[in-house]
Amino acid sequence: MHVASGHMAQVLVSWGDPVVAGAPPFDVEQQTPTAQQQQFGCENDYIAYLPLPYGSQSSTHGLLCVNHEGARIHMMRAGYSDAEDANRRAPREAVECAMAAQGHSVLEVEYVDGRWAVVPGSIYGRRLNGLTTQLRVSGPAAGHARLRTSEDPSGLQVLGTFSNCAGGVTPWGTVLTCEENINQMFTGSARGTREDRNHHRMGVGDEVEYAWSVHHARFDVRRELHEANRHGWVVEYDPHDPHSVPVKRTALGRFKHEGATCVVDGTGALVVYMGDDDENEFLYKWVSKRLYTPSDRAANRDLLDDGTLYVARFDPDGTLEWLPLVHGNGALDAVNGFESQADVLIEARSAATLLGATPLDRPEDVETNPVNDRVYVMLTNNSQRTETDAANPRPNNRHGHVVELEAPRDAQGRALHSAMRFAWEIFLLGGDSEAETTLSCPDNCAFDPRGRLWIATDGAARAGTCDGVWACDVDGAGRAQLVHFFSAPVGAEVCGPCFTPDGSTLFVAIQHPGEADAKGSDKGVAYSTPTTRFPDYDPARPPRSSVVALRRLDGAALGGS
Ligand code: FEO
Ligand code: CA
Ligand code: CA
Repeated sequence: MHVASGHMAQVLVSWGDPVVAGAPPFDVEQQTPTAQQQQFGCENDYIAYLPLPYGSQSSTHGLLCVNHEGARIHMMRAGYSDAEDANRRAPREAVECAMAAQGHSVLEVEYVDGRWAVVPGSIYGRRLNGLTTQLRVSGPAAGHARLRTSEDPSGLQVLGTFSNCAGGVTPWGTVLTCEENINQMFTGSARGTREDRNHHRMGVGDEVEYAWSVHHARFDVRRELHEANRHGWVVEYDPHDPHSVPVKRTALGRFKHEGATCVVDGTGALVVYMGDDDENEFLYKWVSKRLYTPSDRAANRDLLDDGTLYVARFDPDGTLEWLPLVHGNGALDAVNGFESQADVLIEARSAATLLGATPLDRPEDVETNPVNDRVYVMLTNNSQRTETDAANPRPNNRHGHVVELEAPRDAQGRALHSAMRFAWEIFLLGGDSEAETTLSCPDNCAFDPRGRLWIATDGAARAGTCDGVWACDVDGAGRAQLVHFFSAPVGAEVCGPCFTPDGSTLFVAIQHPGEADAKGSDKGVAYSTPTTRFPDYDPARPPRSSVVALRRLDGAALGGS
């Protein structure tokens, strides 16, 4: 890692560290599914920091809620040359360790004596995982025939959450964890069935990176046609209640969810912005039907079950239209395979295409700026783009770009995020500099308390630079003038940037360190041949994804005041 001078980078927690009270310490030679279900998972991604006690603004004590996006067996244990090899040969226990290593972790953390530390044995310590966690399904698609399987004829109970990429925090203090590349767990084809278009569009059965179906039949599409429809949702859970049952909120649609950023707008409605991270996929938002109730936490419990999902069409005149994904709207009817709202939500991608949404260059994180109330969309890259348009101006877009959205304002100047028509403009183009460390592949982002934009990148090595964190002003002379702040260990992307309320700590997730070389190639890289052994640098240990806390040496807010 490299961080700007005058700053420090501290590793806080890594794959295998204890999370649940009583968890065994990490022992790379003794990995078991039971131990992994109690330990920090692999490939940490989204990070939410929720101050403790609940409702406070503490920047020294809180819950850290962290996603685990993936787990690659050939990097978890010795004996496999690459992912495909592990897929073919991994025994059940190795597969189940990987299933248990995905999902989400809740940690209680404290800043004491100049260091962040995990509070051992905390009652909040919790793991959600892909192997054993029971989730409830709610919203318009709950119980629908296309969500029923032989193990769950009700279509209301799902085993496991996995591929958890980015997320969000609701105004009532629950956490949203988003299921992204769920297709990688499935094998087999749905050809000749009702699900053919759907599974094909989600990539289900097309590519297989994990051998889950060998040991768990529900991941074989030929044997369980509907299992894939039970994944690819936004999951809500309450980290303040370790016994709360996580809920898949189907009203927010099913696609490769990157994140889910919540904002209450001038009307009192809750708006959730969501990207679908794939080449030529779309930007979505969801607007609650009922208004948010600030005074009564319980009143918001099922707010995410009833509302309208919209998809964005970017027009060349700099306006943006939000198109409602509502059954019966335009072509969203039985003729086109949509017999109900559940069908529209399960196949949100196909529905959005029929409405004329604008295909984007991998829409990942979408965040609202707490100071200027505008919305910023990270578009990572798009090697498949041949035809350009105003919002995606470059063919074969290697470096990605950032788009800024402006909602109309009410009389008090508050943004109306629930409005149907926005303005937009390109904020910056990645790679738009000759510097060796130019920003490329913007993925996740965060705003500091002064409203400056901090961007984390994914995939920059392949574009000829490095992954890291860059920061800039959004207004004035420094608008979009980037400062390079942090570089990741080789092979890693940077995910989940998250500030404490006072801006003095920036947490980042170092994901998959050592899994590629400085040009982004993973050829010849496996457990015994990583390109770094970050963070332990122990020849007996593999590299481990880790959460890192970045601070100024003088303890002041990052970026200065
Ligand atoms: Fe999981 Fe889109 O990064
Ligand atoms: Ca991401
Ligand atoms: Ca990523």
